[in-house]
Amino acid sequence: MNADYDLPRPVRRPRRLRRTDAIRRLVRETTLTPDHLVLPVFLIDGENKSEPVDSMPGRCRLSVDLAVKECEQAMELGVRAFDVFPATDASLKTADGKEALNPENLTCRAVRAIKKALPEACCITDIALDPYSSMGHDGLVENGVIVNDETVDILAQMAVLHAEAGADIVSPSDMMDGRVAGLRTALDDEDFTDVGILSYTAKYASAFYGPFREALDSAPVDLPDVPKDKKTYQMDPANSREAIIEAQLDIEEGADILVVKPGLPYLDVIAQLRAATDLPIAAYHVSGEYAMIKAAAKMGWLDDDACMFESLTALARAGADIIFTYAALDYARWWRQSHA
Ligand code: PBG
Repeated sequence: MNADYDLPRPVRRPRRLRRTDAIRRLVRETTLTPDHLVLPVFLIDGENKSEPVDSMPGRCRLSVDLAVKECEQAMELGVRAFDVFPATDASLKTADGKEALNPENLTCRAVRAIKKALPEACCITDIALDPYSSMGHDGLVENGVIVNDETVDILAQMAVLHAEAGADIVSPSDMMDGRVAGLRTALDDEDFTDVGILSYTAKYASAFYGPFREALDSAPVDLPDVPKDKKTYQMDPANSREAIIEAQLDIEEGADILVVKPGLPYLDVIAQLRAATDLPIAAYHVSGEYAMIKAAAKMGWLDDDACMFESLTALARAGADIIFTYAALDYARWWRQSHA
């Protein structure tokens, strides 16, 4: 071996900017603060009730009083936005999902309680029928088909109901065609012109929603004439150009914020939407993404906080302004420690 190679020595050395923590912080391109996080909150009936979600260590279904407490704790940590999801009692679920239109349902009660205790919080509600439907679908099922326009009629009423309860933003997660225009029209007709629409623009028919469906017991049921999956309305994971079409429609129809869901498997879609519009983009780091990291950590195979925070930063780097995450409180605690 000849030790005398006359190797070229680089003039440009990118490692100079990685040498110390102070320099790394100076040149850091993406800084995700708790300001940009949304905490999803699972709700159950009752009082002083907290039921762990087995597949989502650290997350529980909470009765409204405890949900308010969790939101208060989040606000203290700098997380100011919440998205509420009701685990509706099975006895209240029907084929037409009519509990969705009950002004005393879990969602409406939670929104009222959160906004009363924390008027400055941003309360987001999910607009879809699945938590209320005995079929486990986001829309009405007729003869084995999820019917579009009839579903939008109900979703528009839901949006108004949530606005009346005090929701700041409603978020259609159902993927029906024309629902953003439907919601906007209904909200404006009722003078809720200030209530925003955060639209799930590119919501994929993903297997990563499993733990969420366990939390709400909302998976499509196994009955004849009920589709077993959501592929006729949620997007095909193989497609990204279609996400641009969905984005164009949502923008024309009046969406204020566009969401990509799930998160990490769809970074390219986030980046493409970022390039296609100047509207804020949100990414939803979904239940399965959270569960995978927690499960590996339980085995001692991964450091859960480090992997979680890296994932969230990657979503922001790809172009997400807003991130929905079940780790919002952990992130905010870590943020406080490392930026004190
Ligand atoms: C349904 C809805 C789902 C999620 C949010 N809203 C599940 C689904 O489409 O079946 C999933 C969120 C998650 O997995 O964290 N409207």
